[in-house]
Amino acid sequence: MTFDRIRTQQDYTDAHAKSVSDPEGFWAAQAETFTWRKTWDTTLVWDFEKPDIQWFAGGKLNITENCLDRHLEKRGNKLALIWEPNDPKERFVRLTYRELHDRVCRYANVLKRNGIKKGDRVAVYMPMVPELMIAVLACARIGAIHSVVFCGFSAQSLADRINDAGAVAVLCSDGMFRGAKEMPVKSVVDEALEQCTTVRRVIVTERVRWAVNMVAGRDVWLHEELTQVGADCPAEVMDAEDPLFILYTSGSTGKPKGVVHTCGGYMVYTDYSFRNVFQVEESDVFFCTADLGWITGHSYMAYGPTLAGATQVMFEGVPTFPDPGRFWQIVDKHGVTIFYTAPTAIRSLMACGIDHVLPYSLHSLRVLGSVGEPINEEAWHWYKTHIGKGKCPIVDTWWQTETGGILISSIAGVTDEKPSHAAYPLPGIQPVLLTAEGKEITENEVEGLLCMKFPWPSILRTTWGDHERCRQTYFSSYTGMYFSGDGAKRDAEGRYRIIGRVDDVINVSGHRFGTAEIESAINTAKGVVESAVVGYPHDIKGQGIYAFVVTEKPVEDPEDMRGSIIESVVASIGRIAKPDKIQFVSGLPKTRSGKIMRRILRKVAENELNALGDTSTLLDPAVVDEIKGGKL
Ligand code: WTA
Repeated sequence: MTFDRIRTQQDYTDAHAKSVSDPEGFWAAQAETFTWRKTWDTTLVWDFEKPDIQWFAGGKLNITENCLDRHLEKRGNKLALIWEPNDPKERFVRLTYRELHDRVCRYANVLKRNGIKKGDRVAVYMPMVPELMIAVLACARIGAIHSVVFCGFSAQSLADRINDAGAVAVLCSDGMFRGAKEMPVKSVVDEALEQCTTVRRVIVTERVRWAVNMVAGRDVWLHEELTQVGADCPAEVMDAEDPLFILYTSGSTGKPKGVVHTCGGYMVYTDYSFRNVFQVEESDVFFCTADLGWITGHSYMAYGPTLAGATQVMFEGVPTFPDPGRFWQIVDKHGVTIFYTAPTAIRSLMACGIDHVLPYSLHSLRVLGSVGEPINEEAWHWYKTHIGKGKCPIVDTWWQTETGGILISSIAGVTDEKPSHAAYPLPGIQPVLLTAEGKEITENEVEGLLCMKFPWPSILRTTWGDHERCRQTYFSSYTGMYFSGDGAKRDAEGRYRIIGRVDDVINVSGHRFGTAEIESAINTAKGVVESAVVGYPHDIKGQGIYAFVVTEKPVEDPEDMRGSIIESVVASIGRIAKPDKIQFVSGLPKTRSGKIMRRILRKVAENELNALGDTSTLLDPAVVDEIKGGKL
């Protein structure tokens, strides 16, 4: 029996059962559907305590041969990429698999010509232009490890990531279009590189045609380099467990860490989850609205769809430009059949009104997806009714940067769906709910900490340069388990409903930030003594950022002070991490041992002023009354 494709509820049940009783046999069968230069020696080696996880060890491959070369014979003339520019009046770009293969090989030759080789780390800081996807695949082609940094991050964040990975090159553009705005990119790279010593080359894609500063001996234009190379670029042979990429993500402590994914397992799992969750058919047109700078863009733009030989739309702009009907206009224009977006986008478009949806037919849509944060019932129903016209299944896909691919989701039109429930574990996934003490809860209709008790092929392998941090963060809280950091409920039928983070991570419009990371950014503002950041429910963003700030002197001009705090956050992290509310306080509620009582601050931010609980053990209970009084 083959479990490659789930078509019925029974297939799902059988596939899941097989994946639990014989995980190695199950995944080996999936892996056999790919092109390998050499078959693996061992399907799985694992020890969650170290952690040491290896899938398909000894296997040799190049993921881009699977994304591109193997499609050439049958799908050479099929569209791989439809690129929709920011401005709807600009011409869109279409690339067949043959053309994408050609462009990736040429770009890869440019990388080689510039001295970049297997194992080198390459930072990619680019807007959503076709060259972004091409650059990522070109790195994979030559075995360089890409580290994509989302363009909303600041020069400081980019520098931190370049330095942590020891990147030898940066791939960027001159600038970017975002809605009505034009923004710099290359000058941000220049600023970052003032703090970096490892970067030898910057390869610049022309997009906005700005005059940019080109440093002789370091910076080159992509279009000039391309005239110097040919289209023949044999793929570098990689070990299944060689790193494919690093992607930085925030946790509850310290600086963002570089999650490492490897070649073989990541390939097998992103392809399998993509095809099954969305029930992809040969004729589908897939549109994922995420930026390639996040894990969703890695797994379900750069890799999953190309591995599956699917046609996809990549969109440069924002959902509200030139008006809030843009997504729907794109759906009609390109005949999108599968649409994958984030709840925050749905909520913001919902708030703009149905008049922006009604002009479009949306009849091509077949499957809808959601990712990044819990989707509230109101948004779910709006999505179902107005976008899916009541006929499209919605897959609410739960996963993380660390998991590499979707772990919990219904399967479009195959397993049942329930609003706000990610629902069922995919084959290969063995979730458990634990009590805070680490005891497994086996019953249903319960709530607990979401962990995984068995590895799947695309689980993270390490955090770059600091394996111990990986162990501590994910594998040490509960012995023998991968701990997700999320809390979840399981209903009577075994469906999972994700509640949200149980650690000090906040999820703002689907973007993860550690509260500590934002606090240290705030604390760099002049006149700030200390701060505490918590999340609070936000109608559009899911969670908003609420900062309590203690200043050296009483604040005379609160607007001015707020402005300088926001500036500090934008400089340290980027515009995506701006606090929504800043309240000045004379002190923070602390225990006698000096620990900030975030629980109390969270209640204040959530406006639950009567539910603060016992405050008598605080060092200075009076600060609580002051904080309540000054609530924004
Ligand atoms: C949250 C994004 C509820 C969750 C792919 C997780 C979700 C974090 C869902 C990972 C969902 C993601 N329902 N919550 N369908 N999907 N999350 O690393 O808290 O950017 O831990 O990966 O987003 O965010 P990340």
